[in-house]
Amino acid sequence: MTVNRRFTLIQRPSGLPDASNFRLVEEAVPAIGDGEFLIRNHYVSLDPAIRNWLNETVTYMPPIAIGDALRASTVGVVEASNHPGFAVGDWVSGLNKTEEYSIGGRDPFTQKVDVGLAPSPSAFLSVAGGTGLTAWFGIEAELKPEKGQTLLVSGAAGAVGSIAGQLAKRRGARVVGIAGGAEKCARLTERYGYDAAVDYRGKDVERLSADIAAACPDGIDLVFENVGGVGLDATLLHINRKALIILCGLISEYNSPRYGTRQLIEVQMQGATIKGYHVADYGMQMGEGRRAILDLLARGELVHDEHVLEGIDNALPAFLSLFDGSNQGKVMLKLV
Ligand SMILES: NC(=O)c1ccc[n+]([C@@H]2O[C@H](COP(=O)([O-])OP(=O)(O)OC[C@H]3O[C@@H](n4cnc5c(N)ncnc54)[C@H](OP(=O)(O)O)[C@@H]3O)[C@@H](O)[C@H]2O)c1
Repeated sequence: MTVNRRFTLIQRPSGLPDASNFRLVEEAVPAIGDGEFLIRNHYVSLDPAIRNWLNETVTYMPPIAIGDALRASTVGVVEASNHPGFAVGDWVSGLNKTEEYSIGGRDPFTQKVDVGLAPSPSAFLSVAGGTGLTAWFGIEAELKPEKGQTLLVSGAAGAVGSIAGQLAKRRGARVVGIAGGAEKCARLTERYGYDAAVDYRGKDVERLSADIAAACPDGIDLVFENVGGVGLDATLLHINRKALIILCGLISEYNSPRYGTRQLIEVQMQGATIKGYHVADYGMQMGEGRRAILDLLARGELVHDEHVLEGIDNALPAFLSLFDGSNQGKVMLKLV
């Protein structure tokens, strides 16, 4: 192969992205310099966070530059190497781009992975990658749910939420999930072990609040928030004293003007804590978290779902599935 197809940003979206924002370009496969290696990307992870990197504003990452391929985690195989630590044939994973070939070795983020330890190479982008680790540290290091407590997870049927619910259940808590639609709600209780599910679609704060109250008769002690907006407002109306709410993501605000929250008074009245949470804060403990997840997988004690589309031509529909809820698990592109 001499051509590298790359899914590039050509115009920053305002609101939901569409085809006018991106272009699939063909370039020559890049040559590697000293200390570099060429990665043939087998899987690309498309994450909600990418939407925020399309904006001009600097977040915890610089914006993706116009003309550049979308920044994304990938797993792939080294095809050529001028780096003493990486040999042809090594499987590697790291923060690269939505492209068929990437260059490694310029930063320390691309690491070798032992694909034999996981159910499949793609697992290093899903349950044993950033997604599973986000659930792991959110539950095991931040929220630490216990028997007798009620944990509410929003975006519960998604990649992070489906793992977070299972991990919390293992610790003995009552676990309630919010998701969009009857099918996803059934999956919460039947596949991921949630105690109860709440469908948020088409509901205002009042109706959602009533459904959350019914699913959480003892109130809510802990919240793993992935969505924000109306759902977070309805949740705050039911928090117990000293509740802990971690903001893992606020996907309902990524494509629309910020909703904020109108129920902050509940946080004050209940002496609760709202905390921003980012998996990168656990950078030094990633290996430990990954080993724990791989152990659970090996024992058959954790289920996970992947939503895989084939070919880089499918980058846009794969990305957009995150925002219309049509994804049924971790969204990835399979390139090889
Ligand atoms: N803090 C961190 O370190 C970190 C790391 C990874 C991910 N995250 C965050 O975690 C959240 C979940 O990410 P994921 O990768 O697991 O994605 P995901 O849950 O697999 O997919 C996104 C889901 O969000 C829901 N959604 C999308 N737009 C929505 C809207 N306007 N209102 C309500 N729900 C909406 C949809 O589910 P329904 O069908 O149920 O609506 C969709 O399936 C995101 O907020 C992401 O930014 C944070």
